[in-house]
Amino acid sequence: MITEKMSLAEVVKEYPQTIPYLNDLHLDYCCGGHQPMDESFTDGSVDLEKVLAELNRIASQPEKASNGQAGTIEAFEKLSVNEMLSDLETTHHITEREMMDEIDALLNKILVVHYPNHGEELTQIHNLFARLKAELEEHFAKEERLVFPMMRANPHPDKETVAQVKILENEHTSAGDMLKQLQILTDDYTLPEDACPTFARTYFVMKAFTEDVFVHVFKENSIVFPEYEEQ
Ligand SMILES: [Fe+2]
Ligand SMILES: [Fe+2]
Repeated sequence: MITEKMSLAEVVKEYPQTIPYLNDLHLDYCCGGHQPMDESFTDGSVDLEKVLAELNRIASQPEKASNGQAGTIEAFEKLSVNEMLSDLETTHHITEREMMDEIDALLNKILVVHYPNHGEELTQIHNLFARLKAELEEHFAKEERLVFPMMRANPHPDKETVAQVKILENEHTSAGDMLKQLQILTDDYTLPEDACPTFARTYFVMKAFTEDVFVHVFKENSIVFPEYEEQ
């Protein structure tokens, strides 16, 4: 049973099949979703009663839980911390690097072709994505070459490793903020009427990339890091 006293991160941990619904509503379960819902939805923008009813409806359909990203979260939770770290490196880090390369090339292409009609917004999107890509590439390198090796070498968390993990969490928040900003700039990846197939492919991959990063950050912030700190 999902109640207003649960945070969205707790909801997803227990019922990962709720992710697509939370994504549709732009509700953050990964970077900032750590407060109880009744404390985080105080500005009136979310109908808490309606959201709770829908979350409980989705949560009561266990047969859907093993599909897609929800399935990967359920399998992930069963791993040891070291296995989780390797899993992140061989799944999200690889696919997101590939997606960022594709998006980078596509954005550059549509920026040129659609500059006459959409130059202003595409310039902002292109610029913000370039900054996000740089940050994430540096973040992945830091995880793979510095922090994950520290975590493997110090299975009982020491002060220095915990401090590094905190820095990673702050970087997740920064990346999450940029992804939310991109959702706003693209009107949640809504294509303009004169969009060509390349434009459509760009937004399609950007949307898939966003959802992948959210799951990736959720796994690190809400599963691996807490489990490591408890060891
Ligand atoms: Fe990562
Ligand atoms: Fe990370």
